[in-house]
Amino acid sequence: MEVGKTRPVALITGASGGIGAELALEIVKDGYDVVLVARNQAQLDKVGGDLHNQFGVAWVAIAMDLSTPAQVEVLMQTLDEKSIAPELIVNNAGYGLAGRAEMVDVEQQLGSIRLNVSVLTELSLKYLPRLLSTNRGGIINVGSVAGFFPGPYFSVYYATKAYVQSFTYALANELKSSNVKICVICPGPTLTGFQKRAGMDRSGVARSGAAMTAAEVAEIGYAGYKKGRVVVVTGKLNRILVLLSRLVPVSLFVRAISRFNRP
Ligand SMILES: NC(=O)c1ccc[n+]([C@@H]2O[C@H](COP(=O)([O-])OP(=O)(O)OC[C@H]3O[C@@H](n4cnc5c(N)ncnc54)[C@H](OP(=O)(O)O)[C@@H]3O)[C@@H](O)[C@H]2O)c1
Repeated sequence: MEVGKTRPVALITGASGGIGAELALEIVKDGYDVVLVARNQAQLDKVGGDLHNQFGVAWVAIAMDLSTPAQVEVLMQTLDEKSIAPELIVNNAGYGLAGRAEMVDVEQQLGSIRLNVSVLTELSLKYLPRLLSTNRGGIINVGSVAGFFPGPYFSVYYATKAYVQSFTYALANELKSSNVKICVICPGPTLTGFQKRAGMDRSGVARSGAAMTAAEVAEIGYAGYKKGRVVVVTGKLNRILVLLSRLVPVSLFVRAISRFNRP
């Protein structure tokens, strides 16, 4: 089946599992074909195959490490050659690394900035002119509640998510006069592959009682995007946390986050 022949196309990064795979499900249910991108080809094929079996959609899986230089160009060229023109861009791929900043591998921390910030920015800026030329479609960026305040023992990750939020908010203002939508989904703790890659204790997150499932996050997040919301904080507890971060003096709030994140 040819991707984009009869349905609009969504490009989803980090679609091999976790929140990305669940967003792919929501988006397919909404009538899109999908381009799935991540490093693990077998996992992408499984996600795409399952979506096809359930909903009969066309899909293509492109395995690449987006954090290595020039990969966004390679991805866009590959899609252009196949005449696939995504009208929904989902910048979901991302990771964080827990620990005291100077003790965490520097190259991996820089890689997270490339993936969470540079790749997201490049895909947004390079696809935006195309979306604007047809005056439809949109961009979904996956941020985090971590974007609302600084996070000791997760410093680089929180800072990358603050960028995602600021960038999305500003673009939303610029896009106001068009039909192109942009939204940042801000989940709190969600049980996915994230914790393992971050080097965190997954059971601690599960025990906290605050964790949501990737399916819940994707459902709430995509519904928010469809409604035209610019910032979607998923879940009541996360919304309370964000509200508190605005009410409590930042030094006090950061102290509390530090206590929560300290390994
Ligand atoms: N889980 C949470 O608690 C939480 C909370 C707030 C925000 N978020 C955000 O949610 C987004 C999705 O994370 P998740 O929780 O679903 O974690 P996840 O299960 O680890 O998923 C991350 C996805 O990104 C892909 N990916 C990682 N590095 C990549 C690279 N270099 N190139 C291409 N793809 C890459 C992974 O696939 P491969 O390994 O196959 O490459 C996977 O599909 C991230 O932006 C994360 O910051 C997560």
